[in-house]
Amino acid sequence: MKPQVEILPDATALIARSLDLIIDKIARAITERGQATLVLSGGNTPKPLYEALAKQTLPWPQLHIFWGDERYVPREHPDSNQGMARHAWLDHIEIPPTNLHPMPTLAGDPQRDAENYENELARFFHLSAGEFPRFDVILLGLGDDAHTASLFSHTLALQVCDRLITVGNKDGQPRLTFTIPLINQARNVIFLVAGASKQNALHHIFAPSADPHTYPARFIQPQGDLYWLLDAASGEKFTK
Ligand code: 6PG
Repeated sequence: MKPQVEILPDATALIARSLDLIIDKIARAITERGQATLVLSGGNTPKPLYEALAKQTLPWPQLHIFWGDERYVPREHPDSNQGMARHAWLDHIEIPPTNLHPMPTLAGDPQRDAENYENELARFFHLSAGEFPRFDVILLGLGDDAHTASLFSHTLALQVCDRLITVGNKDGQPRLTFTIPLINQARNVIFLVAGASKQNALHHIFAPSADPHTYPARFIQPQGDLYWLLDAASGEKFTK
């Protein structure tokens, strides 16, 4: 499917649009399958979206929350993506604790925790060996360097095609991350991008040709629908 690119006038409009889109996709999933599976991204951009979600009244018991990547720190650590989403949103709604599926980071061994999370996904989706689940919505951010999730340029994580979860590497720091094939199974992938610092990454992602190992977000070509929601600052020089 061709990416649907929308350039919103400012960060407020970006959050409002992303909120509407996510609520619509969650509602459709619940109508069609009785539940919705939403994968959160980390970093700074989605925080106001999570704060807006905290003010919504949705059928929370039918929503299951996962994380697409995680820094290898406890949830209380200021860098924790789980911690950020809980403080901004999940601690403020009536959602069953069993509906929250954070990436484990306490085994002291990132590879072991990557396998632990794979096992949790296998149990949740009743996966057979080698099967990749289809999440309803995967939220993604974009680094200034065109990484997404914790899929960083020229790292081994970009080559992992037979696993659901792998260990990413940011400047020597381990991170857990969805793999490219797992993300590409999604029914909907929504990139949320804000700020002028993302312009260069967007240029190379949408260029007719560029090395995806240098610009990893180019690898994201989901089976389902792909949305790029940009604010005017990030999308200022955008041409498709
Ligand atoms: C993370 C994210 C990462 C993030 C981008 C953009 O764990 O940091 O998952 O992929 O989305 O780095 O981060 P900002 O939103 O802070 O620019």
